Amino acid sequence: MPLITILSSAVADQIAAGEVVERPSSVVKELVENSIDAGATVIEVSLDDGGRKLIRVSDDGSGMSAEDAPLALARHGTSKITHAADLVGVSTFGFRGEALPAIASVSQFQVDTSTSDGEGVSIRVIGGKMSPAERVTRRRGTTVAVSNLFFNIPARLKFLRSARSEWRGAVESITALALTRPGVRINVTHDGKQALTLPPVASVRSRLGAIWGGRYAEDLLDVEDVAGPIHTSGLAQRPADVGTSTRRVFLSINGRAVRDAGIARAVEAAYRSTIVAGLRPSFFLEVTVPSDSVDVNVHPAKAEVRFRDRWTIERAVETAVRRALGNFDAAASLGFRGAGFSTLSYQPPPNPGPEILQPAREFDSPLFDVESGEQYQMERTAEQSATAIVDAAPAAVIPPLFQLRRTYIAFEHEDGLVLIDQHSAHERVLYEQFMHTLESGAAPAQRLLLPLTLHLGPAEGEAFDANREYLERLGFEVEGFGGHTLIVNSVPMPHPRFDAERCLRETLDSLTGDRVAGTAAKHERLASTVACKAAIKAGEELSQGEMRSLFASLRDTTLPAHDVHGRSTIVHLTWDEVERRFGRR
Ligand SMILES: Nc1ncnc2c1ncn2[C@@H]1O[C@H](COP(=O)(O)OP(=O)(O)OP(=O)(O)O)[C@@H](O)[C@H]1O
Ligand SMILES: [Mg+2]
Repeated sequence: MPLITILSSAVADQIAAGEVVERPSSVVKELVENSIDAGATVIEVSLDDGGRKLIRVSDDGSGMSAEDAPLALARHGTSKITHAADLVGVSTFGFRGEALPAIASVSQFQVDTSTSDGEGVSIRVIGGKMSPAERVTRRRGTTVAVSNLFFNIPARLKFLRSARSEWRGAVESITALALTRPGVRINVTHDGKQALTLPPVASVRSRLGAIWGGRYAEDLLDVEDVAGPIHTSGLAQRPADVGTSTRRVFLSINGRAVRDAGIARAVEAAYRSTIVAGLRPSFFLEVTVPSDSVDVNVHPAKAEVRFRDRWTIERAVETAVRRALGNFDAAASLGFRGAGFSTLSYQPPPNPGPEILQPAREFDSPLFDVESGEQYQMERTAEQSATAIVDAAPAAVIPPLFQLRRTYIAFEHEDGLVLIDQHSAHERVLYEQFMHTLESGAAPAQRLLLPLTLHLGPAEGEAFDANREYLERLGFEVEGFGGHTLIVNSVPMPHPRFDAERCLRETLDSLTGDRVAGTAAKHERLASTVACKAAIKAGEELSQGEMRSLFASLRDTTLPAHDVHGRSTIVHLTWDEVERRFGRR
């Protein structure tokens, strides 16, 4: 007797089923995908007992002819590709001709289908054994009913979870597909009860609203960006909302819902410095790439893809999300709704508006700019430097600003009152300047008339050693370092009241024991630490000029609405809200 035998096709189907059909949710996914591929505009899904008893999917798609229907149930019976070359760039969900025979081999299966209203065909398959087709009368479209999944494979049946948990998985499959095709009507019933009704809508945002509530969908930011042939669109959570609700993630590549850890990381990277490390944002993104740059044929359930040039795609997605965060509404209070940050300027409110302040001369370097260190000699008084700032008023229009509680800067905007937290805002400004300095290698510094002498403890000394190169780039120029004594000749000069010694001490203190790996991460860690320590504090009085300068610098940052800890820098109180409080509406 030969040792090697060729498996019967029934056994082969069951093995394939092991890869394609894991649980009710995978059956739901395959069937709904087929319906979408058939051009359905309405899809009805019903499940009994979480899909363990019955999964039925009906559509009004193209249907199958009496001739084609039995072929669809044969292994590798597919209408979607004929040549291996077609595999590159398939735009339908299915292409393997594997799903239906696999499902039919492990269930009691029935398909009723018709290509036009009236005459159709019905085929039953029990555990892979097909009965002859029967003629039926029905509407155009297809109904597939899958009963008693795994009835013939007790080992798999044992692994099914509770009805509740299987139902939840099925809903997840359906919602993912529903997001890729907002224009298709999808109705879902569970144990005879209507569970989910998704009318056809024009956008992903509306579909999300139908699934998770309008409020949730409204609070998401629009993402829309084109980088060469890569198009990224969709929605992403506002940084301030991250971590406040269940995390939801949806990604589609060329219309196919997939998981992709690399792209998820790219999205997270876009949020860096706007949310607390470790928090993970919700997002709903559709990425379109040239079809020959992605291979969809790498995962049995087609849940993952392979990119030819992953790096470029990840960077495009990161940039798209980053731009969306930059366009964040609160930033609009500073005058930058929509387009890029350098092109628009503050729009004064309609009557009664603030006086428009004319610039005295071209604005080139803001007050809190390390590059303009020479303007702020150590011996200058704060008042003198403030005058210099007013002289250097920005070209863009700045509204009258008021300091409240020596902590907030308030101003009037066309649709409300805006408060800026002076410390957070300055932190954001400095963070971006420091990052720029660290990355470009430029080290503007302020020479001290009297060098600082610092005695460090062993841990602080170690932190200094580990970060010396970066600290020097930021402007801390140190002469010799031995026996734990630092002689500091130059320091950065982020603002006139900057206490360099305290900043350096506090920075070394928080870097103590730090184990951040990688240059980019080190840059970020250092820039945010020094920014936090160097920024003006709450409780410091600011002159008009300083407030104006801070306002202008904040406006020039890429992410003005958030400090480096993810807190808001700007709070916007709309006139609507104010009027409601006063009972005017
Ligand atoms: N709801 C449907 N309406 C019309 N035709 C369908 C429907 N479901 C399946 N078919 C036909 O049956 C064929 C086999 O479907 P099956 O899901 O097994 O394979 P596939 O979709 O081609 O590929 P994959 O295995 O990757 O899903 C399809 O190619 C399609 O022609
Ligand atoms: Mg299919």
